[in-house]
Amino acid sequence: MTLPFSSTSKQSQRPIVRPANRGDIDAILELVSAYAAEGLMLPRTREQVAMNIDNYVVAASAGRVVACAALEEYSPSLAEVSSVAVARSEHGKGLGTDVVLGVERLARARDIGEIFALSLSDRFFLSLDYEATSISRYPEKLARYDRLSADGVEIVPKRCFQKVFENTWQTPALVEPAKEKALKAS
Ligand SMILES: CC(C)(COP(=O)(O)OP(=O)(O)OC[C@H]1O[C@@H](n2cnc3c(N)ncnc32)[C@H](O)[C@@H]1OP(=O)(O)O)[C@@H](O)C(=O)NCCC(=O)NCCS
Repeated sequence: MTLPFSSTSKQSQRPIVRPANRGDIDAILELVSAYAAEGLMLPRTREQVAMNIDNYVVAASAGRVVACAALEEYSPSLAEVSSVAVARSEHGKGLGTDVVLGVERLARARDIGEIFALSLSDRFFLSLDYEATSISRYPEKLARYDRLSADGVEIVPKRCFQKVFENTWQTPALVEPAKEKALKAS
Protein backbone atom coordinates (compact mmCIF):
# COMPACT_ATOMS: atom_id res chain seq x y z
CA MET A 1 0.00 0.00 0.00
CA THR A 2 1.34 3.42 -0.86
CA LEU A 3 0.78 6.01 1.80
CA PRO A 4 1.65 9.67 1.74
CA PHE A 5 4.80 9.07 3.75
CA SER A 6 7.71 11.18 2.83
CA SER A 7 11.15 12.11 3.95
CA THR A 8 10.85 14.10 7.18
CA SER A 9 13.32 16.68 5.96
CA LYS A 10 15.13 17.98 2.95
CA GLN A 11 18.41 17.09 4.66
CA SER A 12 19.62 13.75 3.31
CA GLN A 13 21.03 12.68 6.71
CA ARG A 14 17.63 12.97 8.34
CA PRO A 15 15.97 9.59 8.93
CA ILE A 16 13.17 8.63 6.57
CA VAL A 17 9.79 7.78 8.11
CA ARG A 18 8.14 4.89 6.28
CA PRO A 19 5.82 1.92 6.78
CA ALA A 20 7.73 -1.01 8.27
CA ASN A 21 8.52 -4.17 6.34
CA ARG A 22 9.54 -7.68 7.36
CA GLY A 23 13.22 -6.73 7.25
CA ASP A 24 12.58 -4.36 10.17
CA ILE A 25 11.26 -7.00 12.58
CA ASP A 26 14.53 -7.56 14.49
CA ALA A 27 15.22 -3.84 14.87
CA ILE A 28 11.66 -3.18 16.12
CA LEU A 29 11.95 -6.02 18.62
CA GLU A 30 15.26 -4.67 19.87
CA LEU A 31 13.88 -1.15 20.38
CA VAL A 32 10.68 -2.32 22.08
CA SER A 33 12.30 -5.01 24.26
CA ALA A 34 14.75 -2.55 25.83
CA TYR A 35 11.95 -0.20 26.96
CA ALA A 36 9.55 -3.01 27.85
CA ALA A 37 12.16 -4.28 30.31
CA GLU A 38 11.87 -0.89 32.05
CA GLY A 39 8.06 -1.08 32.16
CA LEU A 40 7.73 1.80 29.70
CA MET A 41 5.76 -0.26 27.19
CA LEU A 42 4.31 -3.73 26.78
CA PRO A 43 6.66 -6.45 25.54
CA ARG A 44 6.11 -7.91 22.07
CA THR A 45 7.07 -11.29 20.71
CA ARG A 46 8.62 -11.82 17.28
CA GLU A 47 5.36 -13.44 16.16
CA GLN A 48 3.31 -10.46 17.30
CA VAL A 49 5.55 -7.99 15.46
CA ALA A 50 5.68 -10.19 12.36
CA MET A 51 1.90 -10.69 12.25
CA ASN A 52 1.27 -6.97 12.65
CA ILE A 53 4.15 -5.58 10.62
CA ASP A 54 1.71 -3.61 8.42
CA ASN A 55 0.70 -1.64 11.51
CA TYR A 56 4.22 -0.39 12.26
CA VAL A 57 5.95 2.78 11.13
CA VAL A 58 9.71 3.18 11.44
CA ALA A 59 12.28 5.94 11.08
CA ALA A 60 15.44 4.68 9.39
CA SER A 61 18.76 6.30 8.74
CA ALA A 62 21.32 4.73 6.40
CA GLY A 63 19.45 1.43 6.63
CA ARG A 64 19.34 1.46 10.45
CA VAL A 65 15.96 1.61 12.18
CA VAL A 66 16.20 4.23 14.93
CA ALA A 67 12.55 4.66 15.92
CA CYS A 68 9.23 2.85 15.65
CA ALA A 69 5.57 3.13 16.59
CA ALA A 70 2.52 0.98 15.92
CA LEU A 71 -1.19 1.34 15.31
CA GLU A 72 -3.16 -1.16 17.34
CA GLU A 73 -6.74 -1.35 16.15
CA TYR A 74 -9.56 -2.05 18.58
CA SER A 75 -12.50 -1.42 16.29
CA PRO A 76 -13.03 0.11 12.84
CA SER A 77 -13.06 3.56 14.45
CA LEU A 78 -10.71 3.24 17.45
CA ALA A 79 -7.01 2.45 17.72
CA GLU A 80 -4.08 2.88 20.07
CA VAL A 81 -0.69 4.38 19.24
CA SER A 82 1.61 1.87 20.88
CA SER A 83 5.26 0.82 21.00
CA VAL A 84 6.58 4.35 20.49
CA ALA A 85 10.33 3.83 20.87
CA VAL A 86 13.32 5.90 19.81
CA ALA A 87 16.91 4.66 20.12
CA ARG A 88 18.50 6.35 23.14
CA SER A 89 21.24 7.96 21.06
CA GLU A 90 18.53 9.66 18.95
CA HIS A 91 16.31 11.13 21.68
CA GLY A 92 15.29 14.76 21.42
CA LYS A 93 15.64 14.99 17.63
CA GLY A 94 11.96 14.86 16.80
CA LEU A 95 11.90 11.20 15.75
CA GLY A 96 9.29 10.23 18.36
CA THR A 97 7.09 12.96 16.90
CA ASP A 98 7.80 11.75 13.35
CA VAL A 99 6.81 8.13 13.96
CA VAL A 100 3.65 9.08 15.88
CA LEU A 101 2.64 11.37 13.00
CA GLY A 102 3.33 8.45 10.64
CA VAL A 103 1.00 6.25 12.70
CA GLU A 104 -1.63 9.00 12.64
CA ARG A 105 -1.43 9.01 8.82
CA LEU A 106 -1.93 5.26 8.85
CA ALA A 107 -4.98 5.72 11.11
CA ARG A 108 -6.48 8.40 8.86
CA ALA A 109 -5.84 6.28 5.76
CA ARG A 110 -7.83 3.49 7.46
CA ASP A 111 -10.63 5.89 8.37
CA ILE A 112 -10.05 5.56 12.10
CA GLY A 113 -11.58 8.54 13.89
CA GLU A 114 -10.04 8.31 17.35
CA ILE A 115 -6.70 7.20 18.71
CA PHE A 116 -5.35 6.98 22.22
CA ALA A 117 -2.02 6.37 23.87
CA LEU A 118 -0.79 5.33 27.29
CA SER A 119 2.43 6.83 28.49
CA LEU A 120 4.50 7.95 31.44
CA SER A 121 5.79 10.78 29.26
CA ASP A 122 3.08 13.44 29.69
CA ARG A 123 4.80 16.16 27.75
CA PHE A 124 5.46 14.02 24.71
CA PHE A 125 1.83 13.34 23.81
CA LEU A 126 0.64 16.78 24.95
CA SER A 127 3.19 18.31 22.55
CA LEU A 128 1.50 16.31 19.79
CA ASP A 129 -1.90 17.86 20.59
CA TYR A 130 -3.28 14.86 22.45
CA GLU A 131 -5.61 15.53 25.36
CA ALA A 132 -5.33 13.88 28.75
CA THR A 133 -8.23 11.53 29.39
CA SER A 134 -9.14 8.52 31.51
CA ILE A 135 -8.39 4.96 30.51
CA SER A 136 -11.89 4.07 31.73
CA ARG A 137 -13.03 5.56 28.40
CA TYR A 138 -11.51 2.50 26.72
CA PRO A 139 -12.97 -0.69 28.23
CA GLU A 140 -11.41 -2.62 25.30
CA LYS A 141 -7.96 -1.65 26.58
CA LEU A 142 -8.84 -2.47 30.20
CA ALA A 143 -10.04 -5.90 29.10
CA ARG A 144 -6.74 -6.45 27.26
CA TYR A 145 -4.80 -5.43 30.39
CA ASP A 146 -6.82 -7.94 32.42
CA ARG A 147 -5.93 -10.72 29.99
CA LEU A 148 -2.23 -9.80 30.03
CA SER A 149 -2.19 -9.64 33.85
CA ALA A 150 -3.77 -13.08 33.98
CA ASP A 151 -0.91 -14.26 31.73
CA GLY A 152 1.64 -12.86 34.21
CA VAL A 153 2.58 -9.65 32.34
CA GLU A 154 3.27 -6.78 34.74
CA ILE A 155 1.12 -3.75 33.90
CA VAL A 156 2.62 -0.42 34.95
CA PRO A 157 -0.14 2.20 35.40
CA LYS A 158 0.19 5.00 32.86
CA ARG A 159 -1.66 8.14 31.93
CA CYS A 160 -4.03 8.12 29.00
CA PHE A 161 -4.11 10.56 26.09
CA GLN A 162 -6.52 10.79 23.18
CA LYS A 163 -6.82 12.50 19.83
CA VAL A 164 -10.00 12.69 17.80
CA PHE A 165 -9.45 13.45 14.14
CA GLU A 166 -11.52 16.27 12.87
CA ASN A 167 -13.42 15.86 9.66
CA THR A 168 -11.27 17.42 7.00
CA TRP A 169 -14.17 18.00 4.57
CA GLN A 170 -16.55 20.87 5.10
CA THR A 171 -20.10 21.42 4.03
CA PRO A 172 -20.10 23.92 1.18
CA ALA A 173 -20.97 27.47 2.12
CA LEU A 174 -24.53 28.33 1.14
CA VAL A 175 -23.51 31.85 0.17
CA GLU A 176 -20.14 32.88 -1.25
CA PRO A 177 -18.03 34.46 1.54
CA ALA A 178 -17.87 37.90 -0.15
CA LYS A 179 -21.64 37.98 -0.67
CA GLU A 180 -22.21 36.75 2.89
CA LYS A 181 -20.05 39.60 4.25
CA ALA A 182 -21.98 42.13 2.17
CA LEU A 183 -25.29 40.67 3.35
CA LYS A 184 -24.20 40.90 7.00
CA ALA A 185 -23.03 44.50 6.54
CA SER A 186 -26.32 45.58 4.91
C1 LIG B 1 9.16 9.32 24.61
C2 LIG B 1 10.03 9.21 23.34
C3 LIG B 1 9.32 8.34 22.34
C4 LIG B 1 10.21 10.63 22.79
O1 LIG B 1 10.96 10.56 21.58
P1 LIG B 1 11.87 11.78 21.10
O2 LIG B 1 12.25 11.55 19.70
O3 LIG B 1 12.96 12.00 22.06
O4 LIG B 1 10.80 12.98 21.22
P2 LIG B 1 10.75 14.30 20.33
O5 LIG B 1 12.14 14.77 20.09
O6 LIG B 1 9.87 14.09 19.17
O7 LIG B 1 10.09 15.30 21.38
C5 LIG B 1 8.77 15.81 21.24
C6 LIG B 1 8.37 16.48 22.53
O8 LIG B 1 8.22 15.55 23.61
C7 LIG B 1 9.04 15.93 24.72
N1 LIG B 1 9.63 14.70 25.27
C8 LIG B 1 10.47 13.89 24.62
N2 LIG B 1 10.79 12.85 25.41
C9 LIG B 1 10.13 13.02 26.56
C10 LIG B 1 10.05 12.27 27.75
N3 LIG B 1 10.72 11.13 27.94
N4 LIG B 1 9.25 12.74 28.75
C11 LIG B 1 8.57 13.88 28.56
N5 LIG B 1 8.60 14.61 27.46
C12 LIG B 1 9.38 14.20 26.46
C13 LIG B 1 10.10 16.81 24.12
O9 LIG B 1 10.60 17.70 25.10
C14 LIG B 1 9.40 17.51 23.01
O10 LIG B 1 8.65 18.59 23.51
P3 LIG B 1 8.92 20.06 22.97
O11 LIG B 1 8.69 19.99 21.47
O12 LIG B 1 7.90 20.87 23.70
O13 LIG B 1 10.32 20.32 23.34
C15 LIG B 1 11.44 8.66 23.66
O14 LIG B 1 12.01 9.40 24.73
C16 LIG B 1 11.45 7.18 24.02
O15 LIG B 1 11.67 6.32 23.19
N6 LIG B 1 11.24 6.88 25.34
C17 LIG B 1 11.21 5.55 25.84
C18 LIG B 1 9.96 4.80 25.42
C19 LIG B 1 8.68 5.51 25.85
O16 LIG B 1 8.55 5.99 26.97
N7 LIG B 1 7.70 5.56 24.92
C20 LIG B 1 6.42 6.22 25.14
C21 LIG B 1 5.41 5.23 25.59
S1 LIG B 1 4.36 4.66 24.27
